[in-house]
Amino acid sequence: MARAYDAFAEFRMTGHNVVVTGGAQNIGAGIARSLAGAGARVMIADLNGEKAAETAAAIAAETGQDCRGMACDVTDEAAIRAVVAATADAFGGISTLVNNVGWGGRHPDPTAISEEDFVQSYKLNAISAYRMSMACLPYLEQAENAAIANSSSFSAATPAYDILAYATAKAALTQMMVSIAHMLSRKVRVNSLLIGTVMTAGYGEAGIDPAMQDRLMHPDNLVGRTGRPQDVANAMLWLCSPAGGWVSGQTINVHGGGGVVRLFGD
Ligand SMILES: NC(=O)c1ccc[n+]([C@@H]2O[C@H](COP(=O)([O-])OP(=O)(O)OC[C@H]3O[C@@H](n4cnc5c(N)ncnc54)[C@H](O)[C@@H]3O)[C@@H](O)[C@H]2O)c1
Repeated sequence: MARAYDAFAEFRMTGHNVVVTGGAQNIGAGIARSLAGAGARVMIADLNGEKAAETAAAIAAETGQDCRGMACDVTDEAAIRAVVAATADAFGGISTLVNNVGWGGRHPDPTAISEEDFVQSYKLNAISAYRMSMACLPYLEQAENAAIANSSSFSAATPAYDILAYATAKAALTQMMVSIAHMLSRKVRVNSLLIGTVMTAGYGEAGIDPAMQDRLMHPDNLVGRTGRPQDVANAMLWLCSPAGGWVSGQTINVHGGGGVVRLFGD
C-alpha cells in the first residue's frame, strides 16, 4: 500500500550541500555519513586530507551520494577560503555547515596551564568555527533551510578542570554560536550540541590513561553507556534537516543524560 504520509520526509537532506569540518574520523565521519545517507552532498574538510578522501570515498560508495574530502586546516584563513570555494564550485552552493573540529588535551597540573595552550585551544575550538561560518555565509544566505551546527562539549557547561583550556574554549564556542544565531536570524539557523563522552583513540592521545578511560566507559549518566558517533549524528541530522526547521539559537545536550564530568574517582 502506498504511504500517504512519511514521518521521515523532513529528515531528508536532498538538495543540501554540506561542509563537515574534521569529518575524516570518529564523530565527524559519523555526521558526514548520516547527512549523505539522508541525501546531502557532503564535503569533508580535514587537516588529514588523505584520510578525508578515504572516508569520503567510503561514504560515497555506501550512500551513492556525492561525498568528497579535502585537506583543510580550519585555523588557517587561506585554507578556509579554499575549501569553501571548492565546495561551492563542486556542489553549486553551501546550505549547511557542521563545525565539528575540536579537541584538547588533559593538563596534568591545571594550576599551571600556559597562555599559549589557552590561546591554541581557543583558536581550534572557537575561532575556527567563527571563520568557517563567516566564510560560508554568502552561500548560506542564498540557501533553503540554511543551518550551522556545532560539535561543542558537555564540558563547556559543567565544572571540568582536568581539561580546563578545552572546556573554556568550548564554552566560548557555545556562547558565540547563540549570538551568531541572533545575528543571522531568519536567514540561517544556528545550534550547538553539548556532546558527552564518545570513546575514541583520542582519549589515550589526550593523556587519559586506561584506568580513567575505563571509568569514562561506565559513566554515571542516565542511559548508562558512552556515546557512539551515530548518537551524535542522529541529533545533527535533526538540526540540519528541515525537521529541525523551528530550532535555532539552541544548545542541546546529547550525552546520555550525564550529570557530572568525572575523570578521577567516584
Ligand atoms: N569524543 C568525545 O567524547 C567528544 C566529547 C565532546 C565533544 N567532542 C567534540 O566533537 C568533535 C569531534 O570529536 P572526535 O572525538 O570525533 O575528534 P577526533 O580527534 O577523533 O577527530 C577530529 C578530526 O578533526 C581533524 N582536525 C583536527 N584539527 C584540525 C584542523 N585544525 N583543521 C581541520 N581538521 C582538523 C582531525 O584530523 C580529525 O579527523 C570535537 O569538536 C570534539 O571536541 C567530542
